[in-house]
Amino acid sequence: MTRSRFLGTGFAVPDRVVTNDELARLMDTTDEWIRTRTGIQERRWVKEGETGTELGLQASQRALEMAGLEAGDIDAIVYATSSPDHFAPGNGVYLQRLLGIATIPALDVRAQCSGFIYALSVADAWIRTGQFRRVLVVGSEIQSTGLEVSSAGRHVAVIFADGAGAVILGRAESDDGGILAFDLHSEGAHAEKLWVDSPGSMYHPRVSPQHIGEGRQYLQMDGREVFRHAVVRMPESVRAVLSSTGQSVADISLLLAHQANLRIAEAMQKDLGLRDDQVYNNIMRYGNTTAATIPIALDECVRSGRLERGDLVVMTAFGSGFMWGSAAVRW
Ligand SMILES: CC(C)(COP(=O)(O)OP(=O)(O)OC[C@H]1O[C@@H](n2cnc3c(N)ncnc32)[C@H](O)[C@@H]1OP(=O)(O)O)[C@@H](O)C(=O)NCCC(=O)NCCS
Repeated sequence: MTRSRFLGTGFAVPDRVVTNDELARLMDTTDEWIRTRTGIQERRWVKEGETGTELGLQASQRALEMAGLEAGDIDAIVYATSSPDHFAPGNGVYLQRLLGIATIPALDVRAQCSGFIYALSVADAWIRTGQFRRVLVVGSEIQSTGLEVSSAGRHVAVIFADGAGAVILGRAESDDGGILAFDLHSEGAHAEKLWVDSPGSMYHPRVSPQHIGEGRQYLQMDGREVFRHAVVRMPESVRAVLSSTGQSVADISLLLAHQANLRIAEAMQKDLGLRDDQVYNNIMRYGNTTAATIPIALDECVRSGRLERGDLVVMTAFGSGFMWGSAAVRW
């Protein structure tokens, strides 16, 4: 089967920079606490009126430009987001509308922080089986509107942020490059350790003044449990995806890990025994943008010349669900 490969990458973040000092004026926290516990120095939050699909559009246009393609060259969209513009329909169709591409399929993937890896695996399967030739894969999130921006929500509010990344996947012309393998997992036993309770179709009505009064519309997180599982699952998954391709950690040219928290990334780097030049982190500047962190980091690496043809790139993510997974790519 024909492998898929990356034809273009792009990302977009809102213009509004939110510093740690700004958050410290809104809740009981400090720049020092946020930097030492999470690594984050600043993040981007949307202004009222800016949407996730608009960020997704900007990221997609940059990816199309790099690929030398027009929107009309895309055969399908896979859109990963846990924070869609609306409960229904998904962001994929809004992006399709903004791009002006008539009637191509647009699928939303809901796999939270692992959304980009899962979305990539769907697009890869479509290309490998010959169903579609060029697939636009987007990871975008607006988390800022779902945060409890007060002392009660401070352990979550300081971490999450807004942004979008996009890639165009197409067919590899030879067998020596492209996406090599995926490793995907979930463990629903931990669903409520990082979740948004309401609105939900199990409630009549789906959202009520009572829910809002209780703050059930906010992203809720058991930070210690997330940390404990993340530092085990991501290295485990990196080793698994490498071993399925007959390679080992020593072969990694670049590890692009989900930017959940710098301490998680550092613990994983230590566990895997990777040098600083084998990893890339940008959480300091963007915070945790959920499904967008990996495509944003990928685009920064591509545009800064950090990746060379033939490099072995491993992408790995862990998050709400719990869901986690990795992709191994020969660049
Ligand atoms: C959220 C996280 C940074 C909190 O760090 P921690 O060392 O586990 O801290 P705890 O939650 O035990 O809290 C320690 C203290 O800091 C306080 N605290 C929490 N958030 C704070 C903030 N933003 N500012 C200042 N103090 C804060 C807590 O209230 C607690 O105070 P106490 O000891 O008086 O009760 C950490 O658990 C973490 O990084 N978890 C993973 C989160 C993550 O990556 N999520 C995304 C996954 S996709």
